[in-house]
Amino acid sequence: MIRKKLIAGNWKMNKTSGEATNLVSDLVAAVGRSSDVDIVVCPSFTSLESVGKALDGSSVKLGAQNMHPARSGAYTGEVSAEMLRSLFASFVILGHSERRTYFGDTDAFVNEKVLAALKSELKPILCVGETLAERESGSTLKVVQTQLEAGLEGVTKEQAANLVIAYEPVWAIGTGKVATTDQAQEVHAFIRELLGKLFGAAIGNKLRILYGGSMEPANAAELLAEPDIDGGLIGGGALEARSFVDLVKAASASN
Ligand code: PGA
Repeated sequence: MIRKKLIAGNWKMNKTSGEATNLVSDLVAAVGRSSDVDIVVCPSFTSLESVGKALDGSSVKLGAQNMHPARSGAYTGEVSAEMLRSLFASFVILGHSERRTYFGDTDAFVNEKVLAALKSELKPILCVGETLAERESGSTLKVVQTQLEAGLEGVTKEQAANLVIAYEPVWAIGTGKVATTDQAQEVHAFIRELLGKLFGAAIGNKLRILYGGSMEPANAAELLAEPDIDGGLIGGGALEARSFVDLVKAASASN
């Protein structure tokens, strides 16, 4: 196994602190000692502290869904890397398509966040992916290349080892329309090649590339069997303990 599989739950704007804590407690009880799959939960900011406490002592890691690149200052409503680190978050999702679409996150701003996260020793889960119109016009690989190159500008080889990339075709997110294994594998292989060009083949081969977009227990095994799909970034399928656990089991079985 060159790359340990990683299953990350992106709970988006769902669950109060109490609900999130209950969910993570169930998850920890079922797979909290898992060592063959890395598990990350990304609750909303308001639940980070309680979820962090609930997963303490388990192998489940804590992640945030976004952050601001500045260290501190007059940015009402924003949260810094240091604040996330102080709650023991070790991952942060950056450049999710919902942030790009609804909150105006550009490649340049995502890049600032990636650099700030790495500087603070938070591992970015950098999301890239094309819209349906972009896929239909044949520009998928070009879009993904631009998002990756711009998002990773200025990242050093040493820092690159801490990256996780998530390929999330926008048309597959929350739609129940999952990419075919061929579609996903094609883009994942392309991303790996690009990472190899940017940081050297050794790092390219080491980095995990997650698939995201309507991944659920029923389709996970097939996707995770592809050579360049190293896990999943999961929204809807991670909102309930049973399906989250089944996804972890699917990742474990695919090793
Ligand atoms: P989904 O979301 O699993 O609900 O499609 C994935 C994501 O947006 O990260």
